[in-house]
Order: sequence, then structure tokens, then C-alpha cells
Amino acid sequence: MLTAAQRKTIDSKWNPTRWPTGPAYDYARAMHRRSYQFYCDRIQHLGFGGGAVLEAGCGTGTWCFALLTAFDKVAGVDFTQERIDVANWLKARFRLKKPEFRKGDIRAISFENETFDAVFCSSVLLGGVPLEKAYAEFHRVLKPGGVAYVELNGLGYGYSLFRETGPRHEIGGHTIYNSLCQRRLSRTVAQIRAASTAHATAFESAGAASDLLKAVGAEPDAVAAAEAIEALGDGYPALLLKDVRDIGQGTRDKFSQPSGGRGYEPEELEAVARQTGFRRFEWSHEGWLSLQDDGTVRKGTSAVAPPFSQPFFEGHLRRFETLSWK
Ligand SMILES: C[S@@+](CC[C@H](N)C(=O)[O-])C[C@H]1O[C@@H](n2cnc3c(N)ncnc32)[C@H](O)[C@@H]1O
Repeated sequence: MLTAAQRKTIDSKWNPTRWPTGPAYDYARAMHRRSYQFYCDRIQHLGFGGGAVLEAGCGTGTWCFALLTAFDKVAGVDFTQERIDVANWLKARFRLKKPEFRKGDIRAISFENETFDAVFCSSVLLGGVPLEKAYAEFHRVLKPGGVAYVELNGLGYGYSLFRETGPRHEIGGHTIYNSLCQRRLSRTVAQIRAASTAHATAFESAGAASDLLKAVGAEPDAVAAAEAIEALGDGYPALLLKDVRDIGQGTRDKFSQPSGGRGYEPEELEAVARQTGFRRFEWSHEGWLSLQDDGTVRKGTSAVAPPFSQPFFEGHLRRFETLSWK
């Protein structure tokens, strides 16, 4: 935990007028546009606190400095050395001995089993790390009864990026493509492969992947996912049609995954958390979960530290957060 004087020092040095140059510093500067108090209030609203916490994918350490107000021991792990360097630069600037920042991969966390009372993981699971791997590691490093907080993007995040103009547009489109393929279409792979000979003419002539999926008798939600991809326009309908044809011909065994991450649905996380051995799972919109002293969870926003974004975009869940108990 921090003394009042230490908190005051962090507060006064939180947003330097002149940041060193470099992409990792630019990231930190963007994070520090919100006050230190904002992040502390979010941790307080979440009701997190106690002995030891690990931030998995800590970036430049923003949340770690806030977690210091609630935990005795804070460690942050990130596999990008430049971000760890910035976190250590900030730690020196704040004249702190904690947190401990380590370069490392959350797929193989370099801490002993049952080291932490809590794991905090915000905006890290964007598709690059399989959920199963991350949850297995979180479970391993947690003490019995420990709790993992995971915040991540839903499909609405991809749509909100996609509707923006400019360079992020493509990332949004890729994110929607990856989300819909992995969540809804990947289970059609065997069906497409099996049906390709019987429906050879359809595979030759279909102008849209959704027509092909209908022809092979795919589930309505898979067809709807294909139609949603086709509605994006740009190169996505052609990419999907090629993927389905290639899968049918056996030249590829899964859908493309253009770089840009993916969004998840809470049910996917719950299934993985429970398979990994977590015994209780709660989710709500980003910034809504609030752990109470009696172990119950309240769901609602904090007036002093409101969520980063609205819960939905065009009807799709945008960002959500989860708690899983070991
Ligand atoms: C969007 S940033 C979020 C950083 C921080 N949690 C925050 O909210 O400011 C995602 C971070 O996750 C890190 N990351 C992604 N995959 C990782 C992995 N497998 N192991 C460790 N860090 C990872 C990246 O280096 C990056 O700093």
C-alpha cells in the first residue's frame, strides 16, 4: 500500500509536461491523460485489494501504480521490453521501490504456483493469446480462493473502430472478420469440407459465401455471420468466399485471420474459465463490476470513475469485464 505522501508524489508527477519520445512513451502519455485518481477510483470501485496482485500484460504500468493503493505487493509482466522500460522510468520518477516489473510472456508466467491473491488483465486478450493458455496460467499463479479480473473487447469494439474513418478502419474490419469466423463460422469447417463434392456446382458458381453456406445446410447463425461479414463490403465478402472455397477444396483448414485482434463473448470466457478449474464466474460491462466485502458482486457504473466507453455499439457488446474465482 502507499502512504499519503507517496500518493501525492505520484499525483503531482503523473502527467509530465514533457515526455521522452518513442512509441512506448506515446502509449503512456495517452493513458496518463486520465488522472491517477481516475485509475485509483476504478480499482476501488472494483473492490480489489489485499496481499499480492499480478498485472498480466501491464504495458507501461498504469494500472499497477493504481493497484498499489489496494495491494501490499504488485507485480507487472509484459513481453514488450520498451513498455517495461517506460514503467520503470515512471517508477523512478515517482520515487517508488514497487511495483516489480518483469519482461515476460503471460503464456508462461515466471512466478511460482499460488503466488498471488489476484490477477488483473486489462485489454490484453485481443486474440493473440489463446484464452485456454491465459486462464491456465492465471489459475496456476493464483492462491486457492484467489480471483482473476479480465477485461476485453466484444464485437461492438470492432464495429466502433470500423465506422471510424482513418487508419484504424481496417483494424476494425479485421477484428469483426476474426470474431465472426472464430466464434460462428469455425464450427462449419467439417461440414463445408464434407459437402464440397456433393455441392460441386454450388462451389463453382456461388457469388457469396452465405449462399454456399445455405447450400451445404449450415446453421442459421453461421449463415447470419457470413451475411454480417458480407455487409461490411470492402474486400471482406471476397475474402470469405475464398476461405469457404479453399476449405471445401481442402487447401486450407481454417478461416483467415487478418491481423487486428478479435472480440469475444462473455459465454466463451465463462466456458474456458470453468474448464480451467475456476469455480465461479461473473461478468458485466466494462467498469461495472464491484466486489463487495461479503463476497457478492454489484453491477453498475461508478460516478467518479465512469467506463471508458458506452456498453454497446450498434447493438453489439463493446467492452466487458469478468471475475473468475479459483
Ligand atoms: C493494449 S496494451 C494494455 C496494457 C495495459 N494492460 C493497460 O491497460 O494499459 C496490451 C499489452 O499486452 C501486452 N501483451 C500482449 N500479449 C502478451 C503476452 N503474451 N505476454 C505478455 N504481454 C503481452 C502488450 O505488450 C501490451 O503492452
